[in-house]
Amino acid sequence: MPPMNDQPNTPTNQSGGINMSGGQMHVDGDAVGGSKYVIYQAARQAHPRTFTIPAPPRDFTGRTQEIDELVKLLTEGKRAAISGTISSLTGMGGVGKSTLASYVALQVAAEFPDAAMWIDLQGMNDNPLAPTEAMRQVILAFNPLEDLRKATDDELAQMYRAVLHGKRALIVLDNAHDAKQVRELLKAECAFIVTSRRQFVEQGLVLIRLDVLQENDARELLKKLCARLTEQELAQLTELCGKLPLALRIAGSHLGTRPNESAARYIEKLEQQRIELLSEANDETLNVEAAFALSYDRLDPETQRRWRFLAVFPAPFDANAAAYIWKTELDQAEKSLGDLVRESLVEFSDGRFRLHDLLRDFARGRK
Ligand SMILES: Nc1ncnc2c1ncn2[C@@H]1O[C@H](COP(=O)(O)OP(=O)(O)OP(=O)(O)O)[C@@H](O)[C@H]1O
Ligand SMILES: [Mg+2]
Repeated sequence: MPPMNDQPNTPTNQSGGINMSGGQMHVDGDAVGGSKYVIYQAARQAHPRTFTIPAPPRDFTGRTQEIDELVKLLTEGKRAAISGTISSLTGMGGVGKSTLASYVALQVAAEFPDAAMWIDLQGMNDNPLAPTEAMRQVILAFNPLEDLRKATDDELAQMYRAVLHGKRALIVLDNAHDAKQVRELLKAECAFIVTSRRQFVEQGLVLIRLDVLQENDARELLKKLCARLTEQELAQLTELCGKLPLALRIAGSHLGTRPNESAARYIEKLEQQRIELLSEANDETLNVEAAFALSYDRLDPETQRRWRFLAVFPAPFDANAAAYIWKTELDQAEKSLGDLVRESLVEFSDGRFRLHDLLRDFARGRK
């Protein structure tokens, strides 16, 4: 196909005739502009491609294993005859779920020529997005002129599944509140990435628990944010931030944007008052305390009290120890710990529980 404006000037009729064929539009030229060849998108696909994935940060670091796993799941799922793959990323606030989802979605976007959509389910807000609202967004992305004002919930669900039927589409459902919010959405025939602080199980959902960054990746991210840090300072900051990406970004950007501030002095202050220093920004997305409070505030008062008590353990602990300080039966302690693990406020590995260092500091600061 000749590129636009690449034709010799051939004077033709003044009205400028238009021919359309094979996804290409030919407009007869006038004496000034010449003939023009334009790709006629609508003839190529039924709708313009929907792409609403936010770009990941330029300094994206690490996560090679999780990226491989997610890319494999998503690209294999795309070939599945009946339904796409559904991968779910869970983990504590600020651990990098949304960032990883956007990075992976961008990597595989070419495999999903019909749509790559990002929907914020606002699961940590007081009013999470209704599933039907998310459906509306999808339907309108494919059929912008559809009048949905009178559609019932059932009709919306049917239309939602119908527009995605046979499409090669990827939908990121970011920040899911719980299984109920995503259940109907996941019934569509496409690939999904779901992110949530809450761990929940749904049919066909492959759960990927996201942990803090690896030591060397955490240091690398800090180095990208503030090149002047020495090896010792990088090690100290990595430790003080508990390798949590949100905390690393806050501390690294703080020093990176203040070249005159002594890193050693900042580290000293961090040792005394981590949560305060990592929560100075008015920007809620760069504030550790605000990020943790979203999870904490959702607990009922009794669970909040129990969770705060866990801050007495400086090291990993078992359910017996929790039952002892809570003065409850072991069964009850195990149930409560399970609930807190699902909220990503307590970590569980090798049969023991622990609080992330920063969460422990946060818990100690709460009454
Ligand atoms: N792999 C990474 N490389 C560089 N920066 C990262 C990485 N992962 C996360 N970050 C940074 O850490 C911060 C928190 O990340 P993100 O918002 O993805 O966390 P989250 O797990 O989605 O948190 P929430 O539960 O609050 O939604 C962001 O500023 C992000 O840029
Ligand atoms: Mg997020």
